[in-house]
Amino acid sequence: MFELTAYLEHKRRLIDNALEMHLPPEEARPGALHKAMRYSVFSGGKRIRPILCLAAAEAVGGKEENALMPAIALEAIHTYTLIHDDLPAMDDDDLRRGRPTSHIVFGEAAAILAGDALLTLAFEWLAESQAPAPFLPYQYALEAAEAAGSRGIIAGQIEDLTAQGRQPEEDLLEYIHLHKTASLIRAAVRVGGISGSASSEQLDALSLYGCNVGLAFQIADDILNETSTPEELGKPTGSDRAKNKLTYVALLGVEGARDRARSLIDQAVDALSKTKALNDPLEQIARFTIERSH
Ligand code: IPE
Ligand code: IPE
Ligand code: MG
Ligand code: MG
Repeated sequence: MFELTAYLEHKRRLIDNALEMHLPPEEARPGALHKAMRYSVFSGGKRIRPILCLAAAEAVGGKEENALMPAIALEAIHTYTLIHDDLPAMDDDDLRRGRPTSHIVFGEAAAILAGDALLTLAFEWLAESQAPAPFLPYQYALEAAEAAGSRGIIAGQIEDLTAQGRQPEEDLLEYIHLHKTASLIRAAVRVGGISGSASSEQLDALSLYGCNVGLAFQIADDILNETSTPEELGKPTGSDRAKNKLTYVALLGVEGARDRARSLIDQAVDALSKTKALNDPLEQIARFTIERSH
């Protein structure tokens, strides 16, 4: 029987080894910068995006080794977004993945630069990985650029910041969550699918799965911010309420937000099962995203 915990652990190790191999060593000049990059990458993230990328590759009949480089590139992009998200000019948080945030340890300038360097390095890795025909050889970089740029994560981040203190309004909230979080999760499964030569029907289904799982993932993040503790979560809690963030908890309450997340996961799984691109990992990771405790 498929066992999710063992699966996640196994994939995490694979991803961590690849990151370890490809990130510049601390000894390489400028050591202070490489140290800051490694500090944030190796601080115990769940690696959900690269794991989804590998799982999607396998779901369409591809090989995990073909998805590994783009997968770690997506984790580097994700880590950059976390470093910048925690900066004083943004969410101003001092705890991440159970440790002091980058700017607390290394100072603001080094944190900004470590984020910049991770984003740039990600595109180096993406450019080194060729997508199979009939996709464009540089398709991975295109997918990541679209997800990370001003029509993706950055769009969500700026609207998240400017929406602070506003009355909860569903359209705006959905826009923020789809962009700041779902866009990279969607890219992760699309890139995995592309590496496994997914059909266009499967790729469409993976996109829908990614959008729904991504939105549900951020709803779960909103719920945990309200209900968990910093010890369990590894990052501050109660901060969304304190900053008057626009969240699904503010809009629907904790129970309403939970119901919404469950229904999104059902839709995600349903989309994939129709195109035979559903495997046990994609189904169970989808459910895990909303049942997780951190
Ligand atoms: C945190 O993402 C930021 C959100 C988009 C909610 P994760 O919950 O995947 O963070 P790590 O990588 O496990 O620390
Ligand atoms: C995270 O949004 C989205 C990105 C970092 C792109 P949040 O600000 O809600 O996530 P946490 O709670 O700090 O991880
Ligand atoms: Mg934020
Ligand atoms: Mg934040």
